[in-house]
Amino acid sequence: MSSLAKNYNRRKIAFKRGKGSFLYSTSGKKYLDFVQGIAVNSLGHANPHLIKAINSQAKKVWHVSNAFLIPEGEKLAKRLTQKTFADYVIFQNSGTEATEAAIKVARKYFYSKGKPNKNRILCVKNSFHGRTIAAIFASGSKKMTDGFGPKAGGFDHFKFGDHKSLKKAINKKTAAIMVEPIMGEGGIKVIPDWCLRELRKICNKKKILLILDEVQCGIGRTGKFFAYEYSGVKPDIVPVAKGIGGGFPVGAVLMTKKVASGMVAGSHGSTFGGNPLAMSVGNAVLDQIFKKGFLKNVKKTSKYFHNELNKVKNDYPELIKEVRGVGLLIGLQLFNDPTKFIKKLQDNNFLTTRAAENTIRILPPLNVKKSEIATAIKIIKKVCKNF
Ligand SMILES: Cc1ncc(COP(=O)(O)O)c(C=O)c1O
Repeated sequence: MSSLAKNYNRRKIAFKRGKGSFLYSTSGKKYLDFVQGIAVNSLGHANPHLIKAINSQAKKVWHVSNAFLIPEGEKLAKRLTQKTFADYVIFQNSGTEATEAAIKVARKYFYSKGKPNKNRILCVKNSFHGRTIAAIFASGSKKMTDGFGPKAGGFDHFKFGDHKSLKKAINKKTAAIMVEPIMGEGGIKVIPDWCLRELRKICNKKKILLILDEVQCGIGRTGKFFAYEYSGVKPDIVPVAKGIGGGFPVGAVLMTKKVASGMVAGSHGSTFGGNPLAMSVGNAVLDQIFKKGFLKNVKKTSKYFHNELNKVKNDYPELIKEVRGVGLLIGLQLFNDPTKFIKKLQDNNFLTTRAAENTIRILPPLNVKKSEIATAIKIIKKVCKNF
């Protein structure tokens, strides 16, 4: 009997190795893996460039305290700020720590400006920002918060797409609006570009901050480095994680110089966040993603994938409701619960995962081959036919 607590509903497969888009199970089966640790392995399994980077750093120095300079982290932060809206970065180890840090940065900014009561964060009801106490109450989802009271204060909510409820929820105490440009766990629901632009305008008018949670949709997944770039807006704070570590736990919060002004020495910290091993892997991930043509290729392969999925949808209009998402953050929304469909895909050696609203999440590595997408389509068609 397993000694692991029962907080996960695990599938009964274990893997002995992976390579690129594929995983090899201990029972000898080969799977096409379009889960990739839920948008984590941005460059697939066992990427040679990442292996080289981690091995090379492991021989030098794994960990030093943030009480010392960490050149690998300086380098990663510089590259992130040069490519984005941000002026400063704080490194963490996970997405939920990154969103927590984002909340702290927003609150501390107003505190440092003499407005300690301006501390409430406005979020989409049933969004997903992680599993710490603050992050679950930021989401406001009953499923995640039940049993974990007392309620963490300081969060207000509005309904996705309900602009009236958004405007009504902003008050004098609101410090920031925090949204995922594409709701991952929520069912690959995309906030349209014009809505993001409106959000920016509202934040400017009310003099509050815009936090865009790019933990799942960022780091090249949509074909741009950040998903919000399609809208042309500039956020104030962006938490990231997942893809930036390519499988190694790395998180970060990116921010403008203006909002970073509250984060003085001692205001925030993390023992492991930004250690040399993590930073070397992060730099190796960026080496690939910043390569000329890399993101263009994500757009190209994802266009093919979306087109093919839409053809399948047209062939099975009673089964598939919608093809959602941008780039390689894809949702195949069924009319009914997708559990059995996902199991059938798995029985055909194709791994996917689910999200809310009857959605199957399809998350290939960013360097997926067109032939691998063609294989996925073939399996999806076969399952649709027999369903
Ligand atoms: C948008 C978003 N924010 C935050 C998180 C939390 O990240 P982690 O699981 O690394 O703590 C996730 C994880 O799925 C996410 O999708």
